[in-house]
Amino acid sequence: MSKQSMLDWDIEKVRQDFPILQKNSKGSALVYLDNASTTQKPKAVMAAMQHYYEAENANVHRGIYALSEQATAHFEGVRRLVQRFINAKSSHEIVFVKGTTEAINLVAQSYGRSVFKAGDEVILSTMEHHANIVPWQLLSKELGITIRVLPINEKGELELEQLPGLFNKKTKLLAITHASNALGTINPAKKIIEIAHAHNVPVLLDGAQSVLHSRIDVQELDCDFFAFSGHKMYGPTGTGVLYAKQAILEKMPPYQGGGDMIKMVTFEHTEFNELPYKFEAGTPNIAGVIGLGAAIEYLNSLGLDRIRAYETELLHYATHSLKQINGLRIIGNAEHKAPIISFELEDIHPHDIGSIVDHSGVALRAGHHCAMPLMQFFKVAATARVSFGLYNSFAEIDALVNALRHVQELFAHE
Ligand SMILES: Cc1ncc(COP(=O)(O)O)c(C=O)c1O
Repeated sequence: MSKQSMLDWDIEKVRQDFPILQKNSKGSALVYLDNASTTQKPKAVMAAMQHYYEAENANVHRGIYALSEQATAHFEGVRRLVQRFINAKSSHEIVFVKGTTEAINLVAQSYGRSVFKAGDEVILSTMEHHANIVPWQLLSKELGITIRVLPINEKGELELEQLPGLFNKKTKLLAITHASNALGTINPAKKIIEIAHAHNVPVLLDGAQSVLHSRIDVQELDCDFFAFSGHKMYGPTGTGVLYAKQAILEKMPPYQGGGDMIKMVTFEHTEFNELPYKFEAGTPNIAGVIGLGAAIEYLNSLGLDRIRAYETELLHYATHSLKQINGLRIIGNAEHKAPIISFELEDIHPHDIGSIVDHSGVALRAGHHCAMPLMQFFKVAATARVSFGLYNSFAEIDALVNALRHVQELFAHE
C-alpha cells in the first residue's frame, strides 16, 4: 500500500481529468515524470480548443461580424484572465507569445537593442536555461555587451552575497530564472529584485518553472518582466506570455512587423497599434490562447496553494525514497525547491536509466536539460531528472524507485 496524502486531495479524481494517464505505455500504466519538459493536458483544455474550432472559429480583432466578435471577446477574455492570474495591473501588460523562449527573445531584441550600448552588461546566473543565455549572447556578439554570471554553490543555490558586487554603471538588466528546471531550486526572487532595483537595474524573471507550482503576483514581486510557457502549465504548446510593466512596454519598439500591430500604414511610414497589440504581429494562436485560458481556469479550480502543498508532499516523499537507493546522488539540494529532482545513479549513463525505466512505463528525462553551463559546474555531462505535477501519485514514486532498483540489478549482472 502506497503512502497517502495528508491533504484533502483526491488524486484519483484529478487523474480522471487527464485522458493520457488512463492509457498504457508498453503494457504498463504511464508514469509520467517529465513535467518540467511539458505537462499533460486536462480534458477541459482540449474541449475548449475543440469548441473554438467547432463553434467560434474566426480571426480576431478584424471582422465586424458576430463570429469574429465572439472569437475576439473570448481571446481578450483570456488576456484579462492571465492578468488576474499573475496579478498584473493592466491587461495591456500581457503580451501573448509562443512561449518563454520567444518572450525572452522579444525582450532581448526589442528592449535590449533599444537600450544596450557597447560595453553594457547583463547579469545572468549559472543555473539559467539556454533560453535565458543564448538570446543575450546573440546580442553580445552584435552590440558588444558583456554577460556577467552570478555563481551558485554546491547545493545549487545562488551565491546571493556576490550579487551586489556584480552591478556597476554599465549594468542594464538582470535576467534570472525564478525556479531552475534542472535542479528545482526556487530563487528568492523578491530579494533579488530589491537588490537590482537598489542599483536601478530592471529584472526579467524566467517563470517557466514557477508559474505552475505557486501563486505569482508580479506586482508584489515588482519584477519588470515575467515570462512563461502555456504548455508547462497544462495548456497547449505554442502559447506563452510576456508580462512587462506598462511604462517599459510603451518605450519598447515592436519586435516583429505585420498585421494587427499597426494603426496606419503608408509606404513611407507606419503608426503602431497601442499596447499590447504593438507586440502581436500577425494572426495569433487563437485556439491555443483559448486553451491556455482553460488551463488557468483548471488551475484556479484546484487552487494554486493546494497544488503547491500537494506537490511539496510529493517532492519530500520522492526525495526521501530516492535517498534510500544506494549509489544514487541527488544533484541540487537547495532549501526551497520546486518538485524537480536531478540525480545520478552510480556511474550508469542517464540515457541508459531513461530507456530502461521506460520499459516499466516510467517517463523521465535524461540529458543536460538545456542547462549546459550548470552541468559544467557540477562536472557532469548529463543527469536523470524526475519532475512532478499535480496528477502524480505516491504510488508512481514507488514505481520509479522499483524501476531504478531494476536498472541497478541489470547493471550489477553485466
Ligand atoms: C527555466 C526554463 N526557461 C525557459 C524554458 C523554455 O521554455 P519553452 O521551450 O517553452 O519556450 C524552459 C523549458 O524547459 C525552462 O525550463
